[in-house]
Amino acid sequence: MVWFYPPRGILPAGRGMVVETDSAACTRALGEALGRSAEPNTVIGLRGPLGAGKSTLAQGIARGLGVTEPVSSPTFNLVQEYAGRLPFWHVDAYRIRSLDEIIDLSLPELLQGGGVVVIEWSERLARALPADRLEAHLTVLEGDRRRIWLEPLGPRSRDLLERARHELRPCSLVDR
Ligand SMILES: Nc1ncnc2c1ncn2[C@@H]1O[C@H](COP(=O)(O)OP(=O)(O)O)[C@@H](O)[C@H]1O
Ligand SMILES: [Mg+2]
Repeated sequence: MVWFYPPRGILPAGRGMVVETDSAACTRALGEALGRSAEPNTVIGLRGPLGAGKSTLAQGIARGLGVTEPVSSPTFNLVQEYAGRLPFWHVDAYRIRSLDEIIDLSLPELLQGGGVVVIEWSERLARALPADRLEAHLTVLEGDRRRIWLEPLGPRSRDLLERARHELRPCSLVDR
């Protein structure tokens, strides 16, 4: 099940949406809705502790983009590229420490590459990212529950979130 709350915002208008999921499958279903809704040059940052579900959400986004290859965490490479309806770049900024590494990553090219760039630990790259991006903040609740605050930082990401909201299906029907 996916819970949305509050129906009409404790969050001030424009601060996005909060979703709770109770399984990895549900988090993937949420990602899938985002992937289906994404346009070229979409940037989605993922924040939250280890094990929060950032890679799981990224897998869902990939699936929504029609990526058929399995998506794993790019542990050894900072970035992993996949082919889908749009190119999909999965970045893990966990180990990024210096500007040089950002340059090695060709981040500016990725961000203008006509695809979807998903960045785990995006707070570590925030200054190098476009202002208008969607930030997903993941929190671990009891057991398998996760709270995910989807925060749009500009008009394009607000539109993305609005489209994704309509694409969201009950995840119990998706892949459990
Ligand atoms: N509701 C949930 N959403 C996402 N992952 C969940 C959920 N419940 C349990 N999990 C498990 O938590 C782990 C999340 O791992 P991962 O997505 O790699 O996190 P991160 O990338 O944030 O470190 C996975 O083992 C996943 O199966
Ligand atoms: Mg991860």
